[in-house]
Amino acid sequence: MKDFQASLPVKLDFEVGGVLRIAEKVVPYGNKVLLMVDPFLEGSSLVAKVLASFAERDIEAVEFYDIVPNPRHTTIDRAVTLVRDNGCQAVVAIGGGSAIDSAKAVALVAVHGGSCWDYTERLGEAVTRPTTRGLPLLVVPTTSGTGSEATPFAVINNPELGLKCAIVNPSIYPDVALIDPQILVSKPARLTALTAADAFCHALEAFISIHSTPWVEMVALEAIRLFADNALRCVEHGDDLEARARMALASTLAGMAIAGAGVTVSHALGQPLGAMTDAPHGGTVAASTAQVIRWTLPVAQDKFARVAAILDPATQALSVAERAARLPDIVSTHFARLGIRDTFGSYGLKPEQVDAFAKVVWTSFNQDLACHPKPIRDQQEVAEIVRQCL
Ligand SMILES: NC(=O)c1ccc[n+]([C@@H]2O[C@H](COP(=O)([O-])OP(=O)(O)OC[C@H]3O[C@@H](n4cnc5c(N)ncnc54)[C@H](O)[C@@H]3O)[C@@H](O)[C@H]2O)c1
Ligand SMILES: [Fe+2]
Repeated sequence: MKDFQASLPVKLDFEVGGVLRIAEKVVPYGNKVLLMVDPFLEGSSLVAKVLASFAERDIEAVEFYDIVPNPRHTTIDRAVTLVRDNGCQAVVAIGGGSAIDSAKAVALVAVHGGSCWDYTERLGEAVTRPTTRGLPLLVVPTTSGTGSEATPFAVINNPELGLKCAIVNPSIYPDVALIDPQILVSKPARLTALTAADAFCHALEAFISIHSTPWVEMVALEAIRLFADNALRCVEHGDDLEARARMALASTLAGMAIAGAGVTVSHALGQPLGAMTDAPHGGTVAASTAQVIRWTLPVAQDKFARVAAILDPATQALSVAERAARLPDIVSTHFARLGIRDTFGSYGLKPEQVDAFAKVVWTSFNQDLACHPKPIRDQQEVAEIVRQCL
């Protein structure tokens, strides 16, 4: 067996209704927090209850709702100023991956200074990589997709440069992640589908990554099983609390998987597509997945065959090669059932833009490309894969 290390420095708390205990969990970290809330919750009874529970414990909350999908570096820097001006001792985030990634960056930059963009990974450029933690950070996800509560990543969009890049640093793991399936029952069907596809892609990409380990394989395969059994149920019956809980677990496990092994080509392509078009992250990642599997065959044949057997048990009698070869169509069918039929072309990427796009992928997401089991030689080869996904 391959040697491996695994650690998860986040305290995970899965609890129905648990969001109302967030104040209790903040107490050990201080009495003044920046509360970053996804704007879809602004003015909601949930936020009113959370604020009341903070007041009961004499915790002052500085509220911040200015978060957009594919979060902007300027917004994050503004939130850092707010933390410093108000002397906040911790950061609390309630929201989707964009809110949680913003909070992760805010907590780090508030302690270490500068702009959050300086901390993002860009090939050949100076990157600030602190080795000590930021402010204490507590997060409550409202989507089941990114698994950001369990990863050392924060993805930041810089529209001025047309780039979306990631902070990759173990110092940004949250301290506490409170996963409350009750919050998820009202998540709209389309968002549920797109975020579920993101979680599936995390699990698949980490599973096939060259950095995959026995630990990563275990959590990734369990995430794929949970996705297969619960994603469609969540889309069709949003109020099924058990399915929501299991899909939330799939998302967290898939986050743990990418924390251990990274993501691969579909994310390297999907992230810059999100920066270019502001399209939903899950959709931009799902858009290339079937084609990337096709392009990767037969390099990861054995692993693809194992995933095919989970997603479509009817394939279990087939040979490994036959099962693996079926996976692209099986994945497309699963996405189509969820209502996801996206392609790069459907997001407006035009053939004449492919070379410039491939250059961005090569320079901003080289780390992810390097995790893929089939080596990618250069920018031209990236462009070839993108053309296949149009
Ligand atoms: N840090 C990581 O490890 C990691 C991994 C994958 C993706 N990401 C990043 O996370 C971001 C995507 O996050 P996401 O997919 O969770 O979406 P999101 O946070 O961007 O939210 C999408 C939209 O849904 C709304 N929303 C969120 N929860 C809702 C709910 N329960 N009900 C109704 N509306 C809701 C938001 O207000 C927003 O308008 C991208 O920027 C992506 O790059 C991060
Ligand atoms: Fe993702």
